[in-house]
Amino acid sequence: IGRNLVYFAETDSTNSQAQRLAEEGAPDGTVVVADGQRSGKGRMGRTWASPTGVNLYTSVLLRPAVSPLRAPQLSFVAALAVARAVREHCGLAAEVKWPNDILLDHAKVAGLLSEMNAESERIHYVVLGIGLNVNMEAEQFPADLRYPATSLKLAAGHAWERAPLARHLYHVLEELYEQFLDQGFAPIARQWEALCPWRGRRIEVDRGADRVCGTFAGIDEYGALLLDIDGNAPLKIYAGDVRPL
Ligand code: BTN
Repeated sequence: IGRNLVYFAETDSTNSQAQRLAEEGAPDGTVVVADGQRSGKGRMGRTWASPTGVNLYTSVLLRPAVSPLRAPQLSFVAALAVARAVREHCGLAAEVKWPNDILLDHAKVAGLLSEMNAESERIHYVVLGIGLNVNMEAEQFPADLRYPATSLKLAAGHAWERAPLARHLYHVLEELYEQFLDQGFAPIARQWEALCPWRGRRIEVDRGADRVCGTFAGIDEYGALLLDIDGNAPLKIYAGDVRPL
């Protein structure tokens, strides 16, 4: 991962750039990284605040020979890689939040947007877009955030160089991606759950159309959230926003 690396001082969105490169045939493991984005994309059609020169905006193009049904699993691979890179490189106690957020001190420090091009049996490519708030200051965050946000600088009290952190992230991501290809999703899911503080706790899930409350019981073999509501079979949730109660 990152042997083929494309850098932009500024671009619309590294995910959009990676998709363009993918359509042109760029190889598995291609990385796009930008200093700033004019229209950073977030999950569920939201925007991602992308001021220039402070954060990490990067997208990784993968072409795994697995069923498209397994594509969501790759987002967990990437979220886990970000949490581990922050822990190992910065010594900060990063945790994960379903589906693919990374938390520090109970605030969101990174998010992930995966976009895929596939047909029924085959993935053409997956783009894993990672936005990590590195040196962002409190006043640079949008005012209307749905969830509290932070940066590595706010959490640690000093700024971080982005390039060594990015290198470490690509390294961990490659290791976990290889583990995923060799051993499947189970070891990734267990590592992800070990960094998720909410197991056994009461949470609320906003599914857009409605909200459901229950006890967080982990993730299933595809990454769906398992919500215990009444002690019977857990409810499987595939998309939504989660908060602790
Ligand atoms: C989220 O909503 O939590 C996901 C945010 C993902 C942001 C990253 S920044 C790099 C890549 N390019 C984008 O346009 N989005 C992702």
